[in-house]
Amino acid sequence: MKKVVAFVGSARNRLTHGAVRLFLERLQEQGAVDWEIVGLGECNLGTCRGCKLCFEKGEEFCPLKDDRDALIAKMEAADGVVFATPNYMFQVSALMKIFIDRLGFCGHRPRFFGKTFTSIVGQGIFGGGKIVKYLDFVGACLGFNVVRGSCVTACEPMTEGEARGIETTIARHARRFHKGLQRPAFPVPSLLMLMGFRLGRTKMKIELDMHNRDFRHYAEKGWFESDYFYSVRLGLVRKLVGSLFDRVAARASRNRQADACVAAQGFRGRHI
Ligand SMILES: Cc1cc2nc3c(=O)[nH]c(=O)nc-3n(C[C@H](O)[C@H](O)[C@H](O)COP(=O)(O)O)c2cc1C
Repeated sequence: MKKVVAFVGSARNRLTHGAVRLFLERLQEQGAVDWEIVGLGECNLGTCRGCKLCFEKGEEFCPLKDDRDALIAKMEAADGVVFATPNYMFQVSALMKIFIDRLGFCGHRPRFFGKTFTSIVGQGIFGGGKIVKYLDFVGACLGFNVVRGSCVTACEPMTEGEARGIETTIARHARRFHKGLQRPAFPVPSLLMLMGFRLGRTKMKIELDMHNRDFRHYAEKGWFESDYFYSVRLGLVRKLVGSLFDRVAARASRNRQADACVAAQGFRGRHI
């Protein structure tokens, strides 16, 4: 049985929670699913202070002691993950953003490969389409296989027409997600994902060293030499384009290092 965990960034039990419950019920109709809803409003999550210790030394050095690791463990134990948020001023809610920031180091060292991700946005009027795209992009950066999310719209009190619209959108979304859960866990990456991997790892290889946790992680995983994050057969086009991305990133990093040296000398000169 597939396990799905949904993280909801609304402190109210209204539109977003309702859409998530409907989504999980519709998903269950497609096949047996074991699910859990986690209300981020009930979790203890600190606000990231930007020290970057998680990037540079390791996540265990984070000064915040909160529910971060317990929530990550829930994702690790799941086959499918949903991030759901209300639209607040054309963005995710603060609850959802705090959660995403706590996962920042997983953006540097992605780990949720083989798992399926999607997003749900609840809103009163408009602007949620871009939030869905943002959340789906976050899911991809964390390593998930992403199924396009959806946005539901309703004012309070909800009209019958709005309720029907939500039902249709969510039923379609649940079917899409169910198909996603059945797809191969380790697909051939899109060119965009391949580009992200190659540019990132080449930059890291040139600009960082063993003192840095990201560097050590990539070295341990063999990601400085591998075709992609996980073992996958790339066709000729992806192999060629992949090595082109490596070369472009290497040149940009070397130029950047040279420029940074000059800038540092100039900066010191102006201030001494
Ligand atoms: C601070 C705040 C900002 C909001 N900004 C937007 C917005 O930019 N666009 C929109 O369509 N709805 C906006 N809304 C309306 C919410 O998206 C809407 O009330 C939604 O139902 C909230 O989700 P919930 O019912 O799960 O709490 C905003 C609501 C609040 C409280």
